[in-house]
Amino acid sequence: MRRTLIVVALAAGCASPVPSAPAERGPRFVSLATDALDAARSVAARRGAALDILEVSGEAAVVTLDAGDLGLLAEQIHARLDRCGGFMVHDSLADAHAAVTAAAVTRPERPELDYTLDRPAAVRAVLPALDAARIRDTIGELSAMQNRYYQSPSGAAASLWLRDRWRSFTSRPDVTVELFSHGYAQKSVILTIPGTTRASEVVVIGGHLDSIAVGGVSSTAPGADDDASGIATLTEVARVLLASDYRPARTVQLMAYAAEEVGLRGSLQIARDYQRRKVNVVGALQLDMTNYRGSDKDIWLMKDFTSAAQNGFLARLIDTYVGATYGFDACGYACSDHAAWNRTGVPASMPFEARMRDANRAIHTRKDTLETSGNNAEHAIKFARLAAAYAIELAKGELAAAPPPPPAATIAAAPTRSSWSGILAAGSVGLLLIGLWFARLVLSRDG
Ligand code: BES
Ligand code: ZN
Repeated sequence: MRRTLIVVALAAGCASPVPSAPAERGPRFVSLATDALDAARSVAARRGAALDILEVSGEAAVVTLDAGDLGLLAEQIHARLDRCGGFMVHDSLADAHAAVTAAAVTRPERPELDYTLDRPAAVRAVLPALDAARIRDTIGELSAMQNRYYQSPSGAAASLWLRDRWRSFTSRPDVTVELFSHGYAQKSVILTIPGTTRASEVVVIGGHLDSIAVGGVSSTAPGADDDASGIATLTEVARVLLASDYRPARTVQLMAYAAEEVGLRGSLQIARDYQRRKVNVVGALQLDMTNYRGSDKDIWLMKDFTSAAQNGFLARLIDTYVGATYGFDACGYACSDHAAWNRTGVPASMPFEARMRDANRAIHTRKDTLETSGNNAEHAIKFARLAAAYAIELAKGELAAAPPPPPAATIAAAPTRSSWSGILAAGSVGLLLIGLWFARLVLSRDG
């Protein structure tokens, strides 16, 4: 597998974000493919400067650009090369250097996990409670915001909104919901369910909170599929796990990353921070675009920038619990936040909504709406099942309470014990009313 960045052949639509009022300034190190250097040169030229190329290594290079010009870089790459970004932004030259020479980096040996499937009772108890209608509604709420751009007021508000939503799922004091600050308006949101017996081992499930479209800060960027769908999927998994009072053996962290669309900036900063603090992340699952069924099979496991062993585990989870069809495909470049974890040696996976070539073409435009994904979340619910199974089978542990009842539609299809008692109660009231009516009839005849 190629571990250098990049080289994109993206069929789907991509952003041409031009922030109208970039709040952020200052030099940044950017790693990108050498064929994108002309695009970077044109961005530097707009500032009347020559491009500062610091390193060229094979097909990848490191340049410096102003933070306020990153949206323009994405636009120029799209215009000149007819593909999406595929660049990474770094705070230090050492980090950028490591990215372009990643192929040569030897990672410390990690003992491979055993990926056993031995929690069927807990997984099978939780899955029926997952509710597609709630995922759909959350996508609706997120995509109703003007945009979730990493530098805009609504992008900043989205972080607080999500923090409050996640916080509302439990009053357990050991479960925390925190904001991770990056130095721009939007913050990442991290929900932590601490592990009981192996708390130092962390399982990460994430998606990106930001959205992007032409116009940057003042754009209309609903990002319903990219990636409100992933955040809504995560949110439903959080609701059900916490309502079941899930006590994982390993620590589980749900992450909504800021600023993915401008070079994986949020996740790169978090992954680096964890690496520096020697946090032992044993696996990362990325949910980016889960609600547009573009291909003949349901779930597509991206093979690049991911772990083959963990992808095999996901395939077994799908077969055992999800009841969906799946295939394998590749992005062809560091297309989402899983690549940030993969860079730090964490086994990462990216189950995707379609084959790359069949992905939702409305992304990064004002047309990426819930309507474009069919106004329901029947596709995303499969990813919620997969993510819940992944959490329980990788983090182990137990449910300390019964999961919430299945959604109403499921009850209608197959009455449960609690719905039978409802039916009986309604029947008794009906009989009582008929009795009263009959008594009145008899009495009025007598009178
Ligand atoms: N969700 C997309 C990635 C994607 C798009 C995967 C279409 C598969 C099909 C993601 O949010 C994105 O847009 N990523 C950027 C790259 C990033 C490093 C700036 C992209 O693809 O341009
Ligand atoms: Zn995107």
